[in-house]
Amino acid sequence: MNAFDLHGKTVLVTGASSGLGKQTAITASEYGARVMITGRNAARLEETFKLLHGDGHQLFLADLTIKADIDRLVAGLPILDGLVHSTGISELSPARFITAEVISRTFSISFEASVLLTAGILKKKKLAKGPSSIVFISSISTRHPFVGGAMYISAKAALEAYARVLALELAPRGTRVNCILPAFVRTPMLDETAENFSYEAVEKIEARQLMGLGDPVDVANTIIYYLADASKWVSATNLILGGG
Ligand SMILES: NC(=O)c1ccc[n+]([C@@H]2O[C@H](COP(=O)([O-])OP(=O)(O)OC[C@H]3O[C@@H](n4cnc5c(N)ncnc54)[C@H](OP(=O)(O)O)[C@@H]3O)[C@@H](O)[C@H]2O)c1
Repeated sequence: MNAFDLHGKTVLVTGASSGLGKQTAITASEYGARVMITGRNAARLEETFKLLHGDGHQLFLADLTIKADIDRLVAGLPILDGLVHSTGISELSPARFITAEVISRTFSISFEASVLLTAGILKKKKLAKGPSSIVFISSISTRHPFVGGAMYISAKAALEAYARVLALELAPRGTRVNCILPAFVRTPMLDETAENFSYEAVEKIEARQLMGLGDPVDVANTIIYYLADASKWVSATNLILGGG
């Protein structure tokens, strides 16, 4: 038996309409998982759905900053063996321009949505007892910050702290909880950062990254490890991708 095989496992991937979530859903299906995908943009979520291998997959449109959408998503889910949180926005704001709205916009999707979705899934007993896995996508920027990223990075740091507590709470029921901290990866989010911030800044970041810019599949393959039995003794970790 291949310890990386995902046959027989059902996995929910959020943010599956784009970037890292999209690639994770596709790669997980290639490894045999039945994949539940969610996102807001119907056309792009459909596109991901068409790229999934195998069958039994399901698609759920949901805005995870809206409680009713979270409730509807949770109600429609089967019992899960894995949960990958890949939603996020990359709004950058120098410290003097931070407002209550900026804080709330960033935290609502980059922190609250993952916390409330996890709570809903646990409350409705939609996560299998016994070996199961939750993966959060944080960012290398909690260790190597960049100018303008105060709210983005704060929300990720909060997520890492939350994940540590969750790992402690869920270990007795056999659930592993881990964070991965990618360096910059080529996704629509990076293009948006370049457009809104500066292409030069992104080029500088690329030059600074030990292993250059990542490919979404580099992140997806790491997530497969965390979802699979290969990581059955691994919890409460923060794994840096891309070399620090
Ligand atoms: N790319 C990088 O270099 C990098 C590096 C480190 C960490 N990360 C983290 O990795 C995660 C994925 O990033 P990415 O690069 O794949 O970004 P992306 O391509 O912009 O994708 C973001 C995803 O989040 C979803 N999303 C945003 N707001 C939402 C909401 N209110 N409700 C439901 N879904 C929502 C989007 O759905 P819709 O498009 O359907 O609205 C999309 O599927 C993020 O948490 C990001 O912070 C990325």
